[in-house]
Amino acid sequence: MARRLFDPADARRLLNPGPVSIVTASWRGTANATPIAWTASLSMEPPLVGVTIHPSRHIADMIRFAGAFSLNIPGPALLKHVAFLGSLSGRDADKIEAAGFETFTGLRNDAPLIEGCLAWLECDLQEVAPHGDHLLFVGQVYKVHALEEAYSSFWLLEERDLSPLTYLGGDRYAVIGEPLRAEYQVDEHGALVVETVEEREQREEDEAAEQEREKLEGEEGIQEIEQAAREAQRDDGMRRRFF
Ligand SMILES: Cc1cc2nc3c(=O)[nH]c(=O)nc-3n(C[C@H](O)[C@H](O)[C@H](O)COP(=O)(O)O)c2cc1C
Repeated sequence: MARRLFDPADARRLLNPGPVSIVTASWRGTANATPIAWTASLSMEPPLVGVTIHPSRHIADMIRFAGAFSLNIPGPALLKHVAFLGSLSGRDADKIEAAGFETFTGLRNDAPLIEGCLAWLECDLQEVAPHGDHLLFVGQVYKVHALEEAYSSFWLLEERDLSPLTYLGGDRYAVIGEPLRAEYQVDEHGALVVETVEEREQREEDEAAEQEREKLEGEEGIQEIEQAAREAQRDDGMRRRFF
């Protein structure tokens, strides 16, 4: 495997796969919905989240005016909606209507909550701070709603449709997939045991089974090639007989 250097700007994409959020805000009877990939947890107590938004986005103005925003976390069913919402500005269109969204009212603020998402966070705006060419909107989370089938203290990831969508950049997305459980042991020196005896035995068993399967497939493959060659010869013979 080859290692190479990338542009420092690639940091944003390498850190990307957190859930995409559709940020909503409502102000003076209008509402907007903008997909945002750059979000982070900032504090546990009080619960604070950070949302990084370019000052040119309409949602940036709306959050400032409203003093509140909500994060709607979609699954793969809203993939097209997310891409669409990121392709135009709420300054030029009612994006919520154009995307065909049904919404419901939150418990803390007026930002519409989007039906069909997996989870929703309602936040009060606490601070806006410029960082480079973006603004960091810090929100205190007051209400968290989530589908029970999708989330229970952690994302369950039991069904693809109930797993959050992540953004890789450009037109690439992914669904957070295989749930893994981290259980580990340390040896008598306190060092990590990367592979226990049982795990090594299991791995060796799996590898042996895989080799056996490949061997069988290889043999079947050879048989298929031989069979195809015999049929080709037969065809050839028939053709010669006909012509
Ligand atoms: C998946 C996705 C993630 C995005 N993440 C961000 C982000 O983190 N910050 C940002 O400023 N813009 C982000 N954008 C771009 C805005 O969503 C886009 O410019 C949008 O059209 C702005 O709409 P608005 O003017 O109505 O706010 C993202 C777009 C997509 C599709």
